[in-house]
Amino acid sequence: MPTASSTDQKIATALVVGAGTMGHGVAQLLAMHAVQVHLVDQSDEFLQRARSWIADNLDFMVALGELAENRVAAILGKINFTTDLTGKLAEAAYVLEAVNEDFGLKRRIWAILGEKSAPEAILASNTSSYDINELAEGVAHPERIVGTHWFHPPQITPCVEVIPAAGASQANIERVMDFLTGLGKVPTICRSAPGFVANRIQMALAAEAIALVEEGLATPAEIDRIVKTSFGFRLGAYGPFEIIDQAGADTYLGIYQYLHAKLGRAHFQPPRLLAAQVKAGRLGLKSSAGFYDYGPGAADAMRRDRDRKFYARLKLVKKEWQK
Ligand SMILES: NC(=O)c1ccc[n+]([C@@H]2O[C@H](COP(=O)([O-])OP(=O)(O)OC[C@H]3O[C@@H](n4cnc5c(N)ncnc54)[C@H](O)[C@@H]3O)[C@@H](O)[C@H]2O)c1
Repeated sequence: MPTASSTDQKIATALVVGAGTMGHGVAQLLAMHAVQVHLVDQSDEFLQRARSWIADNLDFMVALGELAENRVAAILGKINFTTDLTGKLAEAAYVLEAVNEDFGLKRRIWAILGEKSAPEAILASNTSSYDINELAEGVAHPERIVGTHWFHPPQITPCVEVIPAAGASQANIERVMDFLTGLGKVPTICRSAPGFVANRIQMALAAEAIALVEEGLATPAEIDRIVKTSFGFRLGAYGPFEIIDQAGADTYLGIYQYLHAKLGRAHFQPPRLLAAQVKAGRLGLKSSAGFYDYGPGAADAMRRDRDRKFYARLKLVKKEWQK
């Protein structure tokens, strides 16, 4: 078997440790892109479970017309289901740690990854929240440590947050970005900090939704319906800053001021950055500049772009909501 050190920079072999909710999906996607994968878990029972999840996913892709039936066996054949972490590590050019979100467990796995992997292999964690520098502390060759935070279900969801450790080399960051792009993902580099980007936002949203239920203002089903049909509908097309620019920074500021005065909660404190934008007259589309700059005609172009995207999305989701 070739070792990672005998291969060039192309990632042909990967190892995923933790064949659970995330690990099996990542292994599936890698295998679909002809990457040889060692999928490692602690017992044959977990590996059997992962194998049947992947087989089911692939069969359903065939049923949906997303995959040719004659590819299924070859994809499954790319995955070696194994409990032998230490024996297989040296073969992998990309190693993803995807065990449970338990700091002590991850540290124990990382000690093994550091010791047994090829020195030039990319070492990554799928952690949702831990600082990659803390997880990988003491691991040799820090230039190869680049976290890759995949989103559930990883075989489908486009985003991967790429989190370089403090010592990661630019060449390895680029190598990870190229690898993920080649897998059809949309990777974005994030600084290593608790929760990175997406989970800070996602957890803030969930906390407020839960608070609304606790206060007796709406049921979970009512909140889910409102979110999906309102700003959730828009979020697949526009991120929060694009939406602020469309709505108007002054309007947002006014809402924060009212909510903060009425509800008194720290997270509704009008953000200083937003207040500065308003003071500078950067209100968004209506003033030709906001978080983004808009040239002449940009507001009209943006409105047409928005309508095109929204009507296309509306067709896709309308049937779901009318059930
Ligand atoms: N579930 C999600 O939606 C999601 C999304 C993004 C990131 N994550 C992160 O991905 C990681 C994995 O989460 P998950 O949801 O897949 O967890 P999970 O509990 O579904 O799977 C974890 C797997 O790790 C295995 N494992 C535990 N100890 C092991 C060991 N010593 N050797 C080999 N395998 C071992 C377990 O047997 C299990 O199969 C976590 O860090 C989590 O925070 C999860």
